Amino acid sequence: MDHFLYRDGALFAEDVSVEDIAASVGTPFYLYSTATLTRHFQLFDEALAGMDHMVCYAMKAASNQAILRTLAELGAGMDVVSGGEYARARAAGVPGDRIVFSGVGKTREEIRQVLEGGIRQFNVESEPELRVISEVASSLGKTAPITVRVNPDVDAKTHAKIATGKSENKFGIPISKAREVYAEAAALPGIEVIGIDVHIGSQLTELEPYELAYRKVADLTEQLRADGHVIKRLDLGGGLGIPYTRSNEAPPLPSDYGALIKRTVGHLGCEIEIEPGRLIVGNAGILVSRVVYVKQGEGRQFLILDGAMNDLIRPAMYDAHHDIIPVIEPAPGAEQQPYDIVGPVCESGDTFARNRMMPPLRAGDLVAFRSAGAYGAVMASEYNTRPLVPEVLAKGDQFAVIRKRPDFDEIINRDTIPPWL
Ligand code: LLP
Repeated sequence: MDHFLYRDGALFAEDVSVEDIAASVGTPFYLYSTATLTRHFQLFDEALAGMDHMVCYAMKAASNQAILRTLAELGAGMDVVSGGEYARARAAGVPGDRIVFSGVGKTREEIRQVLEGGIRQFNVESEPELRVISEVASSLGKTAPITVRVNPDVDAKTHAKIATGKSENKFGIPISKAREVYAEAAALPGIEVIGIDVHIGSQLTELEPYELAYRKVADLTEQLRADGHVIKRLDLGGGLGIPYTRSNEAPPLPSDYGALIKRTVGHLGCEIEIEPGRLIVGNAGILVSRVVYVKQGEGRQFLILDGAMNDLIRPAMYDAHHDIIPVIEPAPGAEQQPYDIVGPVCESGDTFARNRMMPPLRAGDLVAFRSAGAYGAVMASEYNTRPLVPEVLAKGDQFAVIRKRPDFDEIINRDTIPPWL
């Protein structure tokens, strides 16, 4: 459920008209709903009620500070994967002890940065990383709290580019080697072992892969405890999928997921962390774009938008489907026709949808890409020297620009011409 609904024939974000925002901000732009963000966060929080837990929002999904602050005020922690994300979370007001640091390539500088700034835990992905964290922590006179991310070799049954829990993926250490790695961790001076981490992929639409992975984590918890390690926290990752179409998709609900967590690891008495990104923000955001031209091709009609692959890369990168709806509600029973919906970027990959049935549209009309809140704005680029798309947050009858569109000077003046030219 989200708060982007037609009202009196036009699309609204909560109580604000999308057309009004477009008139004020210009297109294209991302638009988020505070009520939807809040609801989705609370679904996870409630799903884990009764267990000691923290929902650490995977901020890679959408990292605008206004979104981070909205979630942090509800009690969210953050899952970060770079020094930049850490700095952004801190700037948004999130304390270090609510931030977990994931990722396979943490550099010495990043490790130092977060140890100095304060961190809840490192989710360690390899033995070399473990040793570097120990060295850096020791040099600062600190001890780094860590979990080791284990790779359970489970098929997440999702798109190959976003599956992470199979042995061929670069993530985590093989679960079969875990006892060895924990033994080394326990012997290192700058390390304090506190738990286990697992994350098997993104856009999971079934619970079974989680069940397999979490059962393995439960067994490992008991083994490691028997080996003398303190395992008091389990980070169970993110990845719960969302419906991208409004028709027949029904991925599991956070409440089902919460029940699965209780069933598989609830008896261990561990604090539970989860790292959802997409489910919190995906359906809490849309991308609004305007039709520039309707072009009649041979045997097809192109709807050329002012939004492009640089603004929303998911269709080009993962063949992802996004529902695209007109901002002015079509009359009931209005006839539909097929369009190839494309952007202005100079490559054929800049295609959002082929043969998409839409009511008749004209130049100047507004359309909205649904489910664009996650991995939308954050994956945008300035390809073709197109300005980074602005972001807007709605709350009730208010809206605010939370990242403005840069002007051409801001973009161009980032280049420097060497003195010899
Ligand atoms: N934790 C870790 C360690 C992750 O790598 C990820 C996502 C998450 C949590 C959050 O997963 P989520 O709940 O959002 O599924 N750009 C791709 C998705 C990449 C996901 C990367 N890792 C897309 O647009 O589909």
